[in-house]
Amino acid sequence: MNLNYNRIIELLEGQPEQYVSGEALSRELNISRTAVWKQMKKLESQGYRIEASRRLGYRLMGKPSKLTLPELLVKLEGTTLVRSIKLLDSVDSTQNIAQQMAEEGAPEGTLVIADQQTNGRGRLGRSWVSPAGKGVWMSLVLRPGIPLQFAPQLTLLTAVALCRALKSVVPLEIGIKWPNDLLIGGKKISGILLESTAEDERLRYVIAGVGVSVNLEPEDYPKELLDVATSLLIAGGEHIDRGAVVAAFIRQLEHLYAVYQREGFGPIRTLWEALSVTLHKPTKLYAPTEVFEGTPIGLDERGALLVEKADGSVVPVFSAEMRFPEANSGG
Ligand code: BTN
Repeated sequence: MNLNYNRIIELLEGQPEQYVSGEALSRELNISRTAVWKQMKKLESQGYRIEASRRLGYRLMGKPSKLTLPELLVKLEGTTLVRSIKLLDSVDSTQNIAQQMAEEGAPEGTLVIADQQTNGRGRLGRSWVSPAGKGVWMSLVLRPGIPLQFAPQLTLLTAVALCRALKSVVPLEIGIKWPNDLLIGGKKISGILLESTAEDERLRYVIAGVGVSVNLEPEDYPKELLDVATSLLIAGGEHIDRGAVVAAFIRQLEHLYAVYQREGFGPIRTLWEALSVTLHKPTKLYAPTEVFEGTPIGLDERGALLVEKADGSVVPVFSAEMRFPEANSGG
């Protein structure tokens, strides 16, 4: 934050919800009105909510809700999965930090949360839009001690946990697109990236990366994503407390992870199938070695998607990109 930012915030806060003219701001800061406008845009990108009127100037309608450790600890009271939280301002990717910590021996339940990611990454080498103060960008170290081949089950479990968590926070229709994208009205609201390291075919650790687009506004997205991505704010019209999202997710994950360790994948599979919005819809699958059409009919006991082809055969799919004929099938 430079001096102009701080002064602008002071001036706007001095008159809460009242307009301060661009002219007054430019005079006070000794910068041009275009420069004032640019500073406003920067403040908005930091999570400040500023209303601009050509005639009246600017007014401050809301400040970024900073996640704080005490607040998170209160919200997580009674849970046991998360053993420590590293809360950071700006990082390249929380995945990198969590991975480094896991390599250094961090135990299961180490949670890394960042306000902003400068190089957030998604599946299939994509980047993940992670502006400051507007989303939940977090990575959790898990050490499930299961065979590597079961890793896809954890991805599906994480999607169920996140879907149930978001449904508990906002009254919106949210469903899972295989394997683990959450969609509202066909647009992607969150992403999950599980990165694992194995030794002798057993998982040493898994970094469960979760990104939820909570309070992003249309301007926060590159244009080409607007058709396929949304946020809780855009979809529901309300600013949502990011701490509540984190806590709801951890509570769901803790519960489902315990069910999984006790009873195996069966109950998770049933929950996933019930929340899926892509089952029983003909689709095209872009797998690493082939592209084919079929209808997903369920999951098998390993966590593979069962796809029925036109000839009636059913094939298990572990990794592929699902695309539907209609445009809005999510990223
Ligand atoms: C996807 O849908 O492609 C997965 C997106 C995962 C994004 C999260 S945000 C927190 C964590 N850090 C990252 O760099 N990526 C994951």
